[in-house]
Amino acid sequence: MKFLRPLAALLFSALVGLTAQAATPIKIGEYGSLTGKEASFGQSSHKGIVLAFEELNAAGGALGSPLQLVTEDNQTKPGESATVAKKLITRDKVVALLGEVASGRSLEAAPVAQKARVPMVAPAATNPKVTQTGNYVFRVCFIDPFQGTVMAKFAKEDLKVTKVAVLSSVSNAYSVGLAKFFRETFTAGGGEIVAEKNFSEGDKDFRAQLTAVKASGAEAVFVPSYYTEAALIVRQARELGINVPFFGGDGWEAPQLLQIGGDALEGCYYSTHFSPENQDPTVQQFVAKFKERWNGETPDAFAALGYDAAYVLVDAIKRAGSTEGPKLRAALAETKDFAGVTGVTTIDKNRDASKPAAILAIKGGKLTFLKTVAP
Ligand code: PHE
Repeated sequence: MKFLRPLAALLFSALVGLTAQAATPIKIGEYGSLTGKEASFGQSSHKGIVLAFEELNAAGGALGSPLQLVTEDNQTKPGESATVAKKLITRDKVVALLGEVASGRSLEAAPVAQKARVPMVAPAATNPKVTQTGNYVFRVCFIDPFQGTVMAKFAKEDLKVTKVAVLSSVSNAYSVGLAKFFRETFTAGGGEIVAEKNFSEGDKDFRAQLTAVKASGAEAVFVPSYYTEAALIVRQARELGINVPFFGGDGWEAPQLLQIGGDALEGCYYSTHFSPENQDPTVQQFVAKFKERWNGETPDAFAALGYDAAYVLVDAIKRAGSTEGPKLRAALAETKDFAGVTGVTTIDKNRDASKPAAILAIKGGKLTFLKTVAP
């Protein structure tokens, strides 16, 4: 009897070995900010991607093979995304790349993917330049000309303001782009930008810029930046007696926003890609599965976009019937009406997706779903 168990184990591993030989896994690379300043974004998207891979593998993988996710952390460090993308392509021989959530880091890795002819799908990078890198670079989210327009209309029609100040981060491609697109639509609609001030990533003191904002008579302040700076800006604004609403884009989407900003954020707004409060059954099913997999955590937009990016990529692998770069690229380009948790993905001629935006309000210390704006 004593020998039975080792024998069974031996037989089992031989069997697993045989199956593994029969089907070599399809390796897909993921690069993201799993640690460092924007770890919240990277971790969220990673969790969504992992959940999608587990579901896809449970349903048989693709082309008769299991899917293997190979993840690299860029530590939120400038320059590191290109390095890890190269590593995934040359060392691990991945057939495609998933990443990044941030436009700046996507822009670093995109030329590497393009040159190697390895398709890349960015889950959440919204700056238009990302997919302009070349025909191997795709995204599954809306782009900032749309997001800027949504928030410009929101300022005019919902906040009913005509004088807005803009504070953006000069060293962040996303922030510069979104500020520009907002300005274009808002001024075209008769609005006025009464103050426009800059800061740099990692800045902690915004009092000089805010003093100018206060003097400008702005009725609201648009801050297209990431959550750390946005939360600090709003806190310091309240300390300086600026009580008008502040609003931003998807860079505000992180649990840390409320942790850092606290009460100061009451009555502020931002646009994003997804709301877990959306009662659509597909969304609610995803929220339940995500919570079960990740200790009760509620998925945010980046988790949802990571999940959709993985599904869209694997759907293309199945339709291509191949993992060769050119075939997979062509199949991705033909993605049409793919129903996911962030809406329906159709890849357009610029390799972008057009999706609705969700506007959230901060009320009673919580995020509240306000409305969806269709593209
Ligand atoms: N969509 C934004 C970008 O492209 C920002 C973003 C990234 C927002 C990650 C939140 C998280 O950079």
